[in-house]
Amino acid sequence: MSRYSRIAGTGSYLPPRRITNAQLVKDLGERGVQTSDDWIVERTGIKARHFAEDGSFSSDLALNAAQNALQAAGIAAADLDLIIVATSTPDMVFPSTACILQGKLNAPGCAAFDVQAVCSGFIYALTVADAMIRAGSASKALVVGAEVFSRLLDFQDRTTCVLFGDGAGAVVLIASETPGILACDLHADGSHTGILCVPGHVSGGGIMGDPLLRMDGQAVFKLAVGVLDEAARAVLSKAGKTGEDVDWMIPHQANIRIMQSAARKLKVPVEKVVVTVDQHGNTSAASVPLALDAAVRAGSVKKDQLVLLEAVGGGFAWGAVLLKF
Ligand code: UT7
Repeated sequence: MSRYSRIAGTGSYLPPRRITNAQLVKDLGERGVQTSDDWIVERTGIKARHFAEDGSFSSDLALNAAQNALQAAGIAAADLDLIIVATSTPDMVFPSTACILQGKLNAPGCAAFDVQAVCSGFIYALTVADAMIRAGSASKALVVGAEVFSRLLDFQDRTTCVLFGDGAGAVVLIASETPGILACDLHADGSHTGILCVPGHVSGGGIMGDPLLRMDGQAVFKLAVGVLDEAARAVLSKAGKTGEDVDWMIPHQANIRIMQSAARKLKVPVEKVVVTVDQHGNTSAASVPLALDAAVRAGSVKKDQLVLLEAVGGGFAWGAVLLKF
């Protein structure tokens, strides 16, 4: 009998501190940084984002999202045999945020590790969890994307600080006799490291280099549109489907213009694209599972529908997952 994985429940969490464009424009203006609600909305589609309070870490956001997903799945944390957290803003250099989350869930024993693929992190983590379930090395996996990107922002750099937010999304993935996850496709091109990075590191008790997010937005934009299309087409082709079969497309929520362009290329109508970038900003690895959970809880994504997830970001790393919800 074939063994597959399928999503049994989704969850998400946004920290309560919501920052509208108006608030951000005012705060930045007081620092001498000029931007406007019009520019942010027109170029990105973002209207608001959430920032975690000081002292709240990725594992705290992940814990809330994980508890929601476990509840939706009707599965106890103690029954998990795998926890994967996708994050580029871990609580500590080590141990992994997944281990810290496991401690907070009070569910010792199962395998727990982080995946670091920046904005594509959740797609990478879901692909790894699916492979482990199909291989028989796990049966009940918690897969989380959790980020506190606000900690990496340079609030003197208007080209980046208006784009990102904090949050977490999670799914419980379980072994199943029927799919579930139909196809996955992952890629990276390390020759583009410099166009989106946080170049600093910790050494000898201090931070060496620049610890803030740096991005060549236009270079990322141009690459993103092409690679998202390739990954989406790859998973559709592996599953014998086309864009017209897709019920819901959930792209990485970075920029509404990139998302719409990706949908147009695949001939997916814009009404079938789940959009949360307006309210969440770009939450990196958390953006796809946050959007998925929002769409599930809104009653949009329903059982047995065909859902296309795709993401791209620092690395450069990108990928897609096609699944039957
Ligand atoms: O999550 C990882 C993936 N990341 C992405 O997908 C991001 C991809 N890139 C983008 O989304 C877009 O490139 C941005 C939103 C970052 C920028 O939009 P753009 O349309 O590419 O703008 P631009 O960089 O070409 O800048 C246009 C103008 C410039 O002024 P000049 O040179 O034309 O006078 C910028 O200085 O907009 C200016 N600008 C701003 N103005 C007001 C840049 N940032 C701002 C700002 N407010 N916040």
